[in-house]
Amino acid sequence: MNLQPATLLKIDEVITHYPVKRSAVLPLLHLVQEEQGWISPEAVEWIAQKLELQPINVHELVTFYPMFRQQPIGRRHIKVCRTLSCALVGGYQVCEEFRKQFDCRLGETSADGEVTIEFVECLASCGTGPVLMIDEELHENVDVAKAQALAARIKQQAAARGRP
Ligand code: FES
Repeated sequence: MNLQPATLLKIDEVITHYPVKRSAVLPLLHLVQEEQGWISPEAVEWIAQKLELQPINVHELVTFYPMFRQQPIGRRHIKVCRTLSCALVGGYQVCEEFRKQFDCRLGETSADGEVTIEFVECLASCGTGPVLMIDEELHENVDVAKAQALAARIKQQAAARGRP
């Protein structure tokens, strides 16, 4: 499995925080998912070998904890806050608009592999909701019209990428 040198360094470092190697399994899963966007079967094997566990021990955690993704995510990752302050000012409608725009179910990836849309917990910008992130970029005060504009921008960028 190919991981960035920086991730490999973090992995080796985090293992030293635990008296027994195997206890580092959850942090390792987070680090791998941060880089790769999901936990592939290959990642399960790799982590198991790294921590001297059986792959089934790692696989059980991946299936138990909902925060670990078992499918690759889209090229763009849309995360809409669903916590109370954002929900009260229209976060659910905004999420629904993205879902419609990309014809994609919540928590899943659009058929063309372009976007994954998820609900997440508070993004720490509660006064300017509804709030969402597209990849690493925070968007505030997003109403349905703004969601449409953001979706249009994503589609344009995808089309431009597709040009020879
Ligand atoms: S409730 Fe949405 S950012 Fe805090």
